[in-house]
Amino acid sequence: MTSNKEIKTLVERDFRHFHEHPELSYQEFETTAYLRKELERAGVTILDTGLKTGLVARLGDGSGPVIALRGDIDGLPIQEETDLPYKSQEAGRMHACGHDFHTAAVLGAALLLKEKEKDLHGTVKVIFQPAEEAPGGAKTVMETGAVDEVQAIFGIHIIGNVPVGTYAIRSGAVTAAVDTFKITFRGKGSHGAHPDRGLDPVVAAANFVGAVQTIVSRNSDPFAANLVSVTHIQGGNTWNVIPETAFVEGTTRTMTKADRELVESHIRVMAEHIAQAYGEQADVEWIPGPPATLNDPAWSDFSARIAREQGINVVPAPSNLGGEDFAYFLEKIPGTYIQIGIGNTYSNHHPKFQLDPAALYPASEYLVRLAEAALGKLQKGQK
Ligand code: NI
Repeated sequence: MTSNKEIKTLVERDFRHFHEHPELSYQEFETTAYLRKELERAGVTILDTGLKTGLVARLGDGSGPVIALRGDIDGLPIQEETDLPYKSQEAGRMHACGHDFHTAAVLGAALLLKEKEKDLHGTVKVIFQPAEEAPGGAKTVMETGAVDEVQAIFGIHIIGNVPVGTYAIRSGAVTAAVDTFKITFRGKGSHGAHPDRGLDPVVAAANFVGAVQTIVSRNSDPFAANLVSVTHIQGGNTWNVIPETAFVEGTTRTMTKADRELVESHIRVMAEHIAQAYGEQADVEWIPGPPATLNDPAWSDFSARIAREQGINVVPAPSNLGGEDFAYFLEKIPGTYIQIGIGNTYSNHHPKFQLDPAALYPASEYLVRLAEAALGKLQKGQK
């Protein structure tokens, strides 16, 4: 038996270890080895998923209802600029998005659940997910089949400038679908003094950049949160030559499936028709990223209620046009993305980002209570 107090000490130590040794997406080998060692020492079953980095552990014997807890484990290519005693020891790498916190909090929950494994009314899968920042590690985990029979899933993320002891939980979309477009306008090159002998792709691209801004203002619901940003434009390489092609890329953010389709189709139509108006061609490449993170209403209310019962203050989660690959899980499995206040800080992904570790162990305790209660709810539903 390990006492809760000992587990608290372990989790706090593990958090500092993860913070000191961040690893980039799909390179989380040391982090995975460390997790494996800690879980094996406690006697927790680790599933044979074939994941190269990250792992899935299991509490309970696999019978009864199945829920999952997910923490992402990767860091970012950022040089840390804090003066924390446990600042990153890896040059150019930093846990600047709190994934060290998520890893340690979920590990703490696994260790606490192990102590009461016999009393569990079902099975808890604990997912240490690689490559959230890639993004797409969630898909990698899903492809192993490890979450096929999971009936409810809960993910955590720290939220800055929300006090310790406060969680932000809300049903509906809390982060956006993140898509990328890459467009090549194909014209005909010529001398800068003889535009009549060519087809100028720079003019078509420039028109597109202006016109594309009207998709959100003219085509989508004014109350909806949609966004189109052109972030990269390139055409030609000198002053007196009209180039053959011009390239434009950018990102779109949408909160619903319908808006996602609307924005994509308008971008395609606009690029192709603007090119056509100049006698040119537009090649449109659309690269879909994660969908919007869509919290299930019933599980969101449930997660908020359990938090309040634990003495945690619950506020509605803000909408955020950032992306989160936990959304892939929520596309298939109902559940909730729970945001945990970590006090005032620079924003995440900033080199001076830091969080208050006082939020850590209570998060482990909360996840344990949430897991037990969710299994209880599912078991009742099955009867
Ligand atoms: Ni993150």
